[in-house]
Amino acid sequence: MLNEVYYPHKELFKNPAFKNMCEYHDKVREFEKDYEGTWGKLAREKITWFRLYDKVLDESNAPFYKWFTGGKLNVSYQCIDRHLDKKKNKAAIIWEGDNGEKRVITYLELYKEVNKFANLLKEMGVKKGDRVVIYMPMIPEAAFAMLACARIGAIHSVVFGGFSAEALKDRILDAQAKVVITADGAFRKGKPYMLKPVVDKALEGVDIVEKVIVVERNNEDIEWVEGRDVSYNELIQNQSTECEPEVMDSEDPLFLLYTSGSTGKPKGVQHSQAGYILWAQLTMEWVFDIKDNDTYWCTADIGWITGHTYIVYGPLAAGATTVMFEGVLTYPDSGRAWKMIEDYRINQFYTAPTAIRLLNKIGADEPKKYDLSSLRILGTVGEPIDPAAWKWYYDVVGGGRCSIVDTWWQTETGGHMISPLPAATPIKPASATFPLPGIFAEIIDEEGNRVKPGEKGLLCITKPWPSMIRTIWGDPERFVKSYFSTAKKNGKPVYFSGDGAMYDEDGYIWITGRVDDVINVSGHRLGTAEIEAAIKKHPHVAEVAVVGKPDEITGESIFAYVVLKSTDDLGEEVELIKEINEIISKEIGNIAKVKDIAFVPGLPKTRSGKIMRRILRAIAKGEEIKQDTSTLEDPSVVEAIIAVVNSCE
Ligand code: WTA
Repeated sequence: MLNEVYYPHKELFKNPAFKNMCEYHDKVREFEKDYEGTWGKLAREKITWFRLYDKVLDESNAPFYKWFTGGKLNVSYQCIDRHLDKKKNKAAIIWEGDNGEKRVITYLELYKEVNKFANLLKEMGVKKGDRVVIYMPMIPEAAFAMLACARIGAIHSVVFGGFSAEALKDRILDAQAKVVITADGAFRKGKPYMLKPVVDKALEGVDIVEKVIVVERNNEDIEWVEGRDVSYNELIQNQSTECEPEVMDSEDPLFLLYTSGSTGKPKGVQHSQAGYILWAQLTMEWVFDIKDNDTYWCTADIGWITGHTYIVYGPLAAGATTVMFEGVLTYPDSGRAWKMIEDYRINQFYTAPTAIRLLNKIGADEPKKYDLSSLRILGTVGEPIDPAAWKWYYDVVGGGRCSIVDTWWQTETGGHMISPLPAATPIKPASATFPLPGIFAEIIDEEGNRVKPGEKGLLCITKPWPSMIRTIWGDPERFVKSYFSTAKKNGKPVYFSGDGAMYDEDGYIWITGRVDDVINVSGHRLGTAEIEAAIKKHPHVAEVAVVGKPDEITGESIFAYVVLKSTDDLGEEVELIKEINEIISKEIGNIAKVKDIAFVPGLPKTRSGKIMRRILRAIAKGEEIKQDTSTLEDPSVVEAIIAVVNSCE
């Protein structure tokens, strides 16, 4: 924990939402005094309602909270139509391809593209409430597809393009999707890669999907299944550029996004219309200080929540210009990101600690070769950032001038929860600082007592907020169990994030990472249970336990302890590791591959059979075992595991 404090360079901010900490505290107090009234006022100001809501917050069926009930709106109207009066020729999306190709889409063009796509979806039989899976590369059509669903009231479920056919199939089935939107493939590092064959594989034996809409991007050969597959490029030609937006209720689902938890299969996090879009827009204004002439770039993939809220919905609801990038930040060289910032005069740059560490490692002085003077705000998200990476970001990328917003939030929270306000908050490197106004994020124990400075506790959000998860698709019980069964405050269950955190003496919040069995590799959330289930599919594996191990670049990497069915297989480790990783790629995707595997004689279990992961985590980190091992069924197994791990290194 570094106790240095960095003050905002006020001259960079003209008319920010919060000029100083007094204004921050005033707003927090306003919410404390009149929670519903303050949210209601913001909702009236920021949302263009077709019909105003009747009630701000309905707590009658907690924790299934409802916001702005009785209200009617359309999120695509909110992101596009209402801007046309003043901004029809403003760039909505600036897209850059892997090879440097560029495309600028104005708000008027976006309006037409989204309407055409919406009409195409209707032609394919998609109706309000139907689920549409989007499995796409980072091309503008991916954003059009999301907004087209929003326009006709279909619920989209974007699946990250790095997920395997099996993972895609699970998500298609869970959501009972009627249509899949995909592309033949796209380009990465100058070479084509494919997506459509993955969809074909995912749909083997699946009969619920009626149509697959294929955007032809890289024009590589693909198979076309007659009657099922249609070409977007052909069918879009004849669509009308007008499509009436569907009138949606505030609480109708807008999208599902699958994410990993500590147990079982990924869960379909369900988000709403009004509450979600309100907070997406507000945080663009509060945290990114988005202004009319700004060019804003978030490097996430639309397959993750960051891409949903901070590439598509938030920036467009705010009427901003959002940059979308198909390629990777290190291609063709380590200056790509800085060149793009220079080219587009980017004002806000938002990325993940993994990318910051990698760019620092491969080109620490590279940013100095470019003109980065347009930058005002640098954002980070997805995992804890370490002070060294933070300092490099601040000094070298930000020229010691920009505010860093270390934004803590989750798929489930819809938008930022804890973050500095760029013109107001004195920043301590690697602290997410304070909860945003309206967000009651607190570090408490299970009974709801605030922990003392320096003590670790559970990071909870003790009041409902508009952009919160509404339920887990098809599994309301799991929703309650996953989020509202760990901690209480004043006897009432509160939302528990799964993260641990602590306060320092000044009340700054320091996130310490997940306290459950979720591993965060390069900012991607992976459940140990999913990875273990994949590894168990190898015929020689008897038992397996997976933990996260600190990694210099990716934050954490995956470490697996594997017990083989027979010791005869020892000696074949290299082959086995390869085979296990092949299974993981097939079942989940390359992002979940294990970095280390130790073939051990047994796992440390309690007498009731529970695996003591804490011990395994400590061994993977090379730490001394401080826990009492006497309660283990077989304490000697710990020594044996340590011996194996030491011999691997
Ligand atoms: C972690 C990504 C520390 C955290 C938006 C959380 C962070 C999980 C930060 C959610 C941050 C996210 N500092 N840790 N600024 N932001 N996390 O759902 O563990 O992909 O629970 O959402 O990422 O990951 P998810």
